[in-house]
Amino acid sequence: MNINGKELLHGIIQGGMGVGVSLSELAGNVAKMGCMGVISSVNIGYTEEDFLTNPVEANLRALAKHIKRAKEIAGANGLVAVNIMVAVSHYDETVKCAVEAGADAIISGAGLPLNLAELVKDSDTLYAPIVSSGKAAMLLCKNYARKYQSIPDFIVIEGHKAGGHLGFKANDLEKGTCQENLNILEDVKKAIKPYEEEFNREIKVFLAGGIFTGSDIAEAIEHGADGVQIGTRFIATNECDASEVFKNVIVEAKEEDIKIIKSPVGMPARAVFTPMLQGLEEGKTLYAERCNNCLTACPKGDKVPYCISRALIAAVTGNKEEGLFFCGENAARVDKIVSVKELVEELVNECNAALPEGITF
Ligand SMILES: Cc1cc2nc3c(=O)[nH]c(=O)nc-3n(C[C@H](O)[C@H](O)[C@H](O)COP(=O)(O)O)c2cc1C
Repeated sequence: MNINGKELLHGIIQGGMGVGVSLSELAGNVAKMGCMGVISSVNIGYTEEDFLTNPVEANLRALAKHIKRAKEIAGANGLVAVNIMVAVSHYDETVKCAVEAGADAIISGAGLPLNLAELVKDSDTLYAPIVSSGKAAMLLCKNYARKYQSIPDFIVIEGHKAGGHLGFKANDLEKGTCQENLNILEDVKKAIKPYEEEFNREIKVFLAGGIFTGSDIAEAIEHGADGVQIGTRFIATNECDASEVFKNVIVEAKEEDIKIIKSPVGMPARAVFTPMLQGLEEGKTLYAERCNNCLTACPKGDKVPYCISRALIAAVTGNKEEGLFFCGENAARVDKIVSVKELVEELVNECNAALPEGITF
């Protein structure tokens, strides 16, 4: 498929996963397979020596390094994108750094990326907001069209089964009353149509959240998606940048272990119930005293029961006791660790077998 001038062999985006779960190794190897690999920018500099004393520079330096490395791994194949959450401090600088380092696309959610069009203008970096409703898609397209005479190159729809922070009300997630993926897809397609017509260009749409098999991909395509974004399945790959401990937490998770939690940034999130969450339930606090203001929406100091960034870093570095392990609803279905090549080939083959027209990827 051609996304506004950039070629993508398979309509599969590997979702950006922070902190440190999707870096250059995973993103580069996914791109090498003809898909879109996504580096997560949030606290990407956590392995840099000066991360604690100089977090902004450490993050920007590490981001540029990972983009370069991912592109080396990818070779001439696929696309290397960066996921930058609107909720991170220094959002504008991070987008500009990724653009300068040659990212093929910027994908932004966890808030409305209202100025993203402006930040990537005059570059050949594509831009894509993440939305969880037709209303958000409409609002963003209207904003980009009127303010910047632009429309997004693609949109990622993130449904309620996704991992990490979720754009739904906790109450709806608990009760199972969230709008379903295919309905949101229909709403988004309707919402963007007038803008596609006005600008005489298609906005590609990728569906995310609970996509597990090639048949799920085929279903999304049959309902009008151009492709999908997948997160959780890519954690259980050899090339994923997370620790073996993290990968095994996903492989071993059972349905009853997967919980909706309250993130300090004010959004609900999905994670595996591990000792850290048990501790929180018992009233313990974790790392809350060492804040480096990495997220704009996070209340500071003793107002938070735990520092989410440090808990996510603990998980990615293999600390099962103190780590917070984000996952999608379907994590319980992941039962082994495979290579990125095996996973992509499995998904593409299943998808092609399920689509009446045969190979559309
Ligand atoms: C461990 C983990 C970390 C994630 N981190 C981010 C992130 O930093 N930014 C973001 O926009 N989405 C994040 N997500 C969401 C994924 O990019 C993806 O859209 C979602 O997980 C798709 O659902 P699936 O896991 O069921 O495939 C994360 C998901 C997981 C499982």
